[in-house]
Amino acid sequence: MKLGFIGAGNMGGAIIKGLIKSGKISAENINVVEKNNTILDTMAKEQGINPCKDYKELINGSDIVFMAVKPVVFPSVIADIKDCIKAKGPLLISMAAGITTESIDEMLGFETPVVRMMPNINAEILMSATALCKNSAASDKDIDTAEDILSAVGMTARIDENMFAVFSAIAGCSPAYVYLFIDSLAKGAQKLGMNKKQALATAAAAVSGSAAMFSRSDAHPWELIDKVCSPGGTTIEGICTLEEYKFESAIVKAVENSVLKDMALSGKK
Ligand SMILES: NC(=O)c1ccc[n+]([C@@H]2O[C@H](COP(=O)([O-])OP(=O)(O)OC[C@H]3O[C@@H](n4cnc5c(N)ncnc54)[C@H](OP(=O)(O)O)[C@@H]3O)[C@@H](O)[C@H]2O)c1
Repeated sequence: MKLGFIGAGNMGGAIIKGLIKSGKISAENINVVEKNNTILDTMAKEQGINPCKDYKELINGSDIVFMAVKPVVFPSVIADIKDCIKAKGPLLISMAAGITTESIDEMLGFETPVVRMMPNINAEILMSATALCKNSAASDKDIDTAEDILSAVGMTARIDENMFAVFSAIAGCSPAYVYLFIDSLAKGAQKLGMNKKQALATAAAAVSGSAAMFSRSDAHPWELIDKVCSPGGTTIEGICTLEEYKFESAIVKAVENSVLKDMALSGKK
């Protein structure tokens, strides 16, 4: 199976590196067209991918074409590739935030299989959370194939397309929220005299361990919170302080506002 990537920046690059690292696809079976020559040269030298001189070469040599450019340039790339897509008929997989399969169908102007995905940046370390859905021209086999490939870089979920913006907020945007949380924990320790580097490493290990513990247990988060909070102890003091400063409301509002922004960018609001 040959994969083509149009764009190999932050997200496309993370998926390419993850796929190679997982052993799912070998580098010589990954074709890339990338506007940024430094990125393309580095990917070719360090990862061993196959750089293509143009879209035609990439599409003709690929069974699946991943669209990994920013949403703002997506329509112009579709306009440039649609004749080649029509002639060759590869499965098209889009990771563009806020661009629906319906609007991709409209941009193309003909029926062709399209899978929409929403990955996150943790694909590079095989820990993405990736949502998938398909247009009506794509078969069950098409989405099975997409899921088989993408499950190599983390967990996958088939969801209704109208939940993509919500999924995107809690899986695509949330790594940034979590980095902010890690930095805030470390800042608290730094304020009290701990070296920032050590504080960041400690906070990251605690956050990653807590996520792993929750994922491996059947417990509700509050059962785990109660296990950490001794009566009259330090943790319940911190939990009450977070509640006093409206930690949960801030997170809920961040998710809501990320979804509203997604809808605004996709012209739905
Ligand atoms: N980053 C994330 O965490 C994340 C999460 C989920 C989904 N996504 C989606 O993933 C897609 C890519 O986002 P990103 O963050 O990876 O963006 P990015 O880092 O800017 O990567 C896109 C790359 O594509 C290149 N490019 C631009 N126009 C091109 C063209 N016509 N042909 C070939 N390459 C072209 C860009 O080069 P120049 O910089 O020189 O223009 C850039 O290197 C977006 O649709 C985004 O919604 C991203």
